[in-house]
Amino acid sequence: MISMKSYDMRRKHLASQMQKGVAIIPTSPERVRSRDGNYPYRFDSYFYYLTGFSEPEAVLVIVADINEGVTKDILFCQDKNAEYEIWNGFRHGPESAKEVFNIDETYSISRLDELLPKLLHDQPKIYCALGQDNRWDLRLIHCINQVREQARNGISAPTEICDSRLLLDEMRLFKSEEELQIMRKAANISTSAHCRAMRMTQPGMKEYEIEAELLYEFRSHGAEAPAYTPIVAGGANACILHYVENNMELKSGDLLLIDAGCELHGYASDVTRTFPINGKFNSAQKDVYQLTLSAQVAAINAVKPGTHWDAPHTAALQVLVQGFIDLGLCQGSVESVIKSKDYKRFYMHRTGHWLGLDVHDVGEYKQDGKWRLLHSGMTFTVEPGCYIRPADNVPRDFWNIGVRIEDDVMVTKTGCEVLTASAPKTIAEIEELMQ
Ligand code: GLY
Ligand code: MN
Ligand code: MN
Repeated sequence: MISMKSYDMRRKHLASQMQKGVAIIPTSPERVRSRDGNYPYRFDSYFYYLTGFSEPEAVLVIVADINEGVTKDILFCQDKNAEYEIWNGFRHGPESAKEVFNIDETYSISRLDELLPKLLHDQPKIYCALGQDNRWDLRLIHCINQVREQARNGISAPTEICDSRLLLDEMRLFKSEEELQIMRKAANISTSAHCRAMRMTQPGMKEYEIEAELLYEFRSHGAEAPAYTPIVAGGANACILHYVENNMELKSGDLLLIDAGCELHGYASDVTRTFPINGKFNSAQKDVYQLTLSAQVAAINAVKPGTHWDAPHTAALQVLVQGFIDLGLCQGSVESVIKSKDYKRFYMHRTGHWLGLDVHDVGEYKQDGKWRLLHSGMTFTVEPGCYIRPADNVPRDFWNIGVRIEDDVMVTKTGCEVLTASAPKTIAEIEELMQ
């Protein structure tokens, strides 16, 4: 778990970068799923990163004046309400939230429009995430205008709006030991779900039956939810990158691609494994699978501090393109196929993305126009794939084979730790588990 002290340190760190100004960070609104039923609630990752507070209808305000040596954290949240709690369960309310979450001042969310303009008096800058929620943007502009109306009373309104994400993304990119412990646990739950899926899969089952096994494993180990909609894609469905219907029959002789990861204490894991539905790879499947695995291993071997973000992708691409040429899928030299982008018929995505509170986590990939350097504490996925759709110039044996192998890695001081190593991925390991 993340300690309250850590949340406090994150707020102080943000304040120290703001120097003088006010940060305003609302959590996500509830969203209607159907009539009077909402989607399961998920807090905003920035808000949660700074507070650990998971209730809806809450706003964090940080007032910083570093030269004066003062910062103040203020939380607006829902009131306690006995009637509401009978129907919908516990709410902290401002009093309890102040104690439990170690916040300087807490107020009812119903006082936000009254108090927020006052907090903006004579402040030079606002730090917020404009464009994330239109209704919230309008509310904020209304607040600023209220302060402007006070000009004749000698009160000045903020004149600069800065993007809070520029500061927070950089903080979130580097994971602490507390965060890594959670991410390791999330990764372990996800890999055990993939092992369960391999053990349970039989020809004749439906994709959704395997999806149910994944969800069972996630929830029975305490994960809140899947971190994204699971992809359970048999046969040709594996060549649809974001296939989520998960309603087809699993056929003997086909592969099954599963991209599924759980969310634990807000942190995502993101794992893909591909295996034969009848437990045995055929010859063409072996070729494509082994090629993808070799590319993935080459990419993982390229992960170390000081190398740049694109190095794992470049390593994977070199192996894949050589393989496409060897298998007769592409013609020419590795250089010419990369230059012409002909490989994109079979590998059309990149090899990974940052991973954290969001599956596609925050953080810049380039700095000053160059790929940024890897550093210990960064976490991301390594996920090359190969997707072969039927086409005249593709040998028939390869038609409809789709393979992706995705692990979550953390950059260490000397190389990397593969957080999801316990899900089998060699041909021998997979065939043995499925026996
Ligand atoms: N599961 C989403 C991704 O692999 O990026
Ligand atoms: Mn994935
Ligand atoms: Mn991914």
